[in-house]
Amino acid sequence: MIEVKNLVKIYETKKGCVTGVDQVSLTVKKGEVYGIVGYSGAGKSSLIRCLNLLEKPTSGEIHIDGVELTTLSKTELRKARLKIGMIFQHFHLVSAKTVSENIAFALKAAGLPKAKIHDRVTELLDMVGLSDKKDVYPAQLSGGQKQRVGIARALANNPSVLLCDEATSALDPSTTKSILSLLKKINSELGITIVLITHEMEVVKTICDRMAVMQDGKIIEEGDVYEVFANPKQSLTKDFVNSILQFELPERLLEERQGKLIKIYFQGEIAEQGVISDVFQTFKVRGNILHGKIEYIQDIPLGIFIMEITGEQVEMDRAIAYIAARTKNLEVIDDAA
Ligand SMILES: Nc1ncnc2c1ncn2[C@@H]1O[C@H](COP(=O)(O)OP(=O)(O)O)[C@@H](O)[C@H]1O
Ligand SMILES: [Mg+2]
Repeated sequence: MIEVKNLVKIYETKKGCVTGVDQVSLTVKKGEVYGIVGYSGAGKSSLIRCLNLLEKPTSGEIHIDGVELTTLSKTELRKARLKIGMIFQHFHLVSAKTVSENIAFALKAAGLPKAKIHDRVTELLDMVGLSDKKDVYPAQLSGGQKQRVGIARALANNPSVLLCDEATSALDPSTTKSILSLLKKINSELGITIVLITHEMEVVKTICDRMAVMQDGKIIEEGDVYEVFANPKQSLTKDFVNSILQFELPERLLEERQGKLIKIYFQGEIAEQGVISDVFQTFKVRGNILHGKIEYIQDIPLGIFIMEITGEQVEMDRAIAYIAARTKNLEVIDDAA
């Protein structure tokens, strides 16, 4: 478990003080995948780098598995850090070492006997699917393969926590997917707690259990990923959610509409319960779906539809009241009738 209390990170530069993290408190439960999103400069890297004291906090506490890191001596900290793996956007591999040597380096540093290093490296290479690349140098690897080496190195000493700083931001979408599924596998099979920071909601949607939104060094919203996607509160959070769920309707459709234009948000099971078909069987209205999308977040559907409803005024009103009662959120966006 990770517990951060009143964390502050202020950088002292020649031009004055810059706040990286501003009074952040958060708890990440054991075995959880916790995502922190925010735009560039929000303080995400400062925060995650404070978690293993790669950056020294100005004030506040960091507890990992019950150990308060900020008060440890150098030797104690070195030991505690073995339990915290980290991967980076630009991989940070040693270019003059082979894949095996990059991974072995982390084991040597931890003092593992030589005889055991070879076996552990073999095991790690197998885990990340790179057994055939063991003697290759980083320059000969694709971005996804480099990140796999980074992951193997981070897991070398059996950490309980894995920190990921924009680990997929330098990768193309399909490679991102494969790295995310590897991270998910590591989380579920090894029970490793993962904290990741990203500017992409797609990443959060794909693998996180809980999430926080960061702005100006502060956490402005936090919660279960589905809850945040379904009911974002802050406007920045809404922007992030919209990057996944929103879409624009072509002007032409708005001009040619005849009835009422409604936007319906579906949550959870309701998305599967055929509300739309029930409406057309129950009321004398006609409907036209202009746009729709269902996203699955933590395997639960979250949908948004824009429909045009036409018919007699009374029937339209009744149909809309019916849909409103059966869905979480209905918005009449335009009323031509
Ligand atoms: N080493 C540093 N020295 C001075 N200012 C820094 C340093 N690292 C980060 N900052 C500043 O701290 C703020 C947060 O940066 P950062 O944590 O990198 O955000 P993010 O990862 O969300 O893009 C920014 O204003 C940035 O300029
Ligand atoms: Mg960053």
